[in-house]
Amino acid sequence: MGSLTENVSVARLSADSICLNRGNASVDGSPLVPPIAQSTTFQRTGVGSDPKHQYSRVSNPSVTTLEQTLGALEDAPPAVCFGTGLAAETALFLSILRAGDHVVCGRGVYGGTTRLLQQLLSDLDISTTFVDSTNLEEIRSSIRPNTELLFIETPANPTLALTDIQACARIASDHGVILAVDNTFLTPILQRPLDHGADISVYSTTKFIDGHSVALGGSLVSKHTELLERVRFIRKCTGAIQSPFNGWLTTNGVKTLPLRIRAQSASAEHIAQRLSELSGISRVFHPSLAEGNDAAIANRQHLDGHGAVVSFEIEGGYEAACTFVESLRLCTLVEHVGSVETLITHPASMTHADVPTAQRESAGITDGLLRLSVGLEPTHELLSDIELALALASQSPCPQTEEAVHA
Ligand SMILES: Cc1ncc(COP(=O)(O)O)c(C=O)c1O
Repeated sequence: MGSLTENVSVARLSADSICLNRGNASVDGSPLVPPIAQSTTFQRTGVGSDPKHQYSRVSNPSVTTLEQTLGALEDAPPAVCFGTGLAAETALFLSILRAGDHVVCGRGVYGGTTRLLQQLLSDLDISTTFVDSTNLEEIRSSIRPNTELLFIETPANPTLALTDIQACARIASDHGVILAVDNTFLTPILQRPLDHGADISVYSTTKFIDGHSVALGGSLVSKHTELLERVRFIRKCTGAIQSPFNGWLTTNGVKTLPLRIRAQSASAEHIAQRLSELSGISRVFHPSLAEGNDAAIANRQHLDGHGAVVSFEIEGGYEAACTFVESLRLCTLVEHVGSVETLITHPASMTHADVPTAQRESAGITDGLLRLSVGLEPTHELLSDIELALALASQSPCPQTEEAVHA
């Protein structure tokens, strides 16, 4: 008997069991936690031998274990893991696109994805049209004869707008285009893009999959074996593989992913509901608050919850937003999501600071918008923190001292 994830073809396991990857139970005395293979190279028994692992730029057992887990979570072959989410995206683009090709990309994708397409791949004669991916007609009309890839992210960042993956998959297949979905915010526990017709799920494992803010990583999951082979080849050529230590840390982090993301998501839903009732907040974005067609998309695509990220706009613009974040005690100001701690970001001055003001505001990213990545603190404590900070933000544009705030 090998590791649990090697046996998924024999017995279909739940995501919870797949994540609890354990070592080889058939060997007496073997460690419960798969050991780290912190080695750059692997020994051979003879000149003509062909060991499974040879050199850690190509493959490493600690990365392979994570790849088996992440693939099994989407009923797919082993994933391909990278040093970061952007390294995964770079390998994906290089594997599909050639000079002269065209990409259609959602405007709500992570800013680093936009930068990669707009400022790097454009120099390789690969052009991109950015579209509102919630508008299917805009996607359809943007596809050209040389379009090879449709890249979307749902929910979008930071406005959490929802894109219909099934409808995008139909458009992509009608035009012979590959559909890739960045599923970093929901993870395969809450959304499985391949089940809705996507060709590739893209992850920054740095976020919820690791969950503890200790390991950078990225991964690509697909059922197209030729594409996976090509992506592995590009990883070997560019040296973009994840380090053994980060692969090992992420394999340990992922053990609690189902419990974490479900609990964080449920807490986010409560917080979104409460925020929508509070005065001083003009808009709240969370898929649990979606209505009409968006609610139908959320219910069809999401499993076990709508995600741990909530965005909201506070009245009073930039100054009120500053007072608010500087008055919080339990929520930490960072440029990151997906940790066990609750994190807050001010997109206008942080993730989207490089975007021209008019463009940013037309995308709904105003000076008062805040993005909250809900962690594992008790929901009522987070709400007290938020409500107190909100009261202070509505009173004064200038932050008070911590002692005065929480006396
Ligand atoms: C949705 C999303 N995709 C991709 C990335 C890039 O991941 P990494 O920082 O691991 O390169 C990020 C990073 O914030 C992200 O939020």
